Amino acid sequence: MKVDLRGRSFLSLADFTADEITAVLELAEELKRERAAGARRDTHAGKTLALLFQKPSLRTRVSFDVAMHELGGDALYLGPDEVGVGKRESVADVATVLSRYVHGVAARVFGHDVVEGLVEYGDVPVINGLSDLLHPCQVLADLMTVRERFGKLEGLTLVYVGDGNNVANSLMLGGAVTGLNVTIVTPAGFEADAGVTSRAQKLAANSRAKIAVTNDLAAANGADVLYTDVWASMGEEDVAAEKKQAFAGFTVDADMVAAAAPHAIVLHCLPAHYGEEITEDVARGPQSAIWDEAENRLHAQKALLALVL
Ligand code: CP
Ligand code: NVA
Repeated sequence: MKVDLRGRSFLSLADFTADEITAVLELAEELKRERAAGARRDTHAGKTLALLFQKPSLRTRVSFDVAMHELGGDALYLGPDEVGVGKRESVADVATVLSRYVHGVAARVFGHDVVEGLVEYGDVPVINGLSDLLHPCQVLADLMTVRERFGKLEGLTLVYVGDGNNVANSLMLGGAVTGLNVTIVTPAGFEADAGVTSRAQKLAANSRAKIAVTNDLAAANGADVLYTDVWASMGEEDVAAEKKQAFAGFTVDADMVAAAAPHAIVLHCLPAHYGEEITEDVARGPQSAIWDEAENRLHAQKALLALVL
């Protein structure tokens, strides 16, 4: 599929059409095959991507850095103590100055308004490497992993069990755009963002995906894909103990996997807290696609960078 994504920012799955997401995923699959065969492209020599991070990271940081290097370009990590976005200097000024040096910015932030500000005031593509509201790069890799395992997205049902957080929000948008049915199961009071839920349900009218939210764990029965994430996200450390009480019963364990479809796969964006949202035997068990999912961050983001930079 031919699309022109040059110069485009990616803050949300809803920023791209179904064809555009498919094009990213198809290129990601091609790049994965090429890498396995030992080939690489140096299409982005002379280009630099800034990694502007307000929060810690393993996967996002390393996969963007390696992706940029494997495209022939450079990545420059700017950690929380270096730039002080919005503290040492305003988001607007950081965006304006960075645009004079680099060809793109991948940002990991607290408030989603920070990535929006980087787009508003900067002149280069901005990629959302996680905000408190959304984690679209994660879900690109998730969609790639589901396609890899099932050969399709449409008609399958992904059930997310856990906290209604940034990953849950992005899964709903990703499903809505691409036709993957997504059900978000949370304890009462921990539902996904209401605005994102209604946006996803409206978008789903085009793809005919079913986007549902519930507090009933029985919704996980028969799932094609079982997905979970930490109960307390980065920045919620102070409420982690309190949340643990509320999430009793929401652990993705061997019983929950047994009640899913026989062919079901299990996904987790990582990092995992074993014994809380998932058990280690499930994460390392035969139905886990978690490690391929983590690897696919590299291929999916490399494809995204190749297309927008
Ligand atoms: N899944 C994910 O984004 O991992 P990191 O926080 O390690 O980047
Ligand atoms: N919801 C988690 C995802 C980590 C990759 C967080 O925001 O901390």
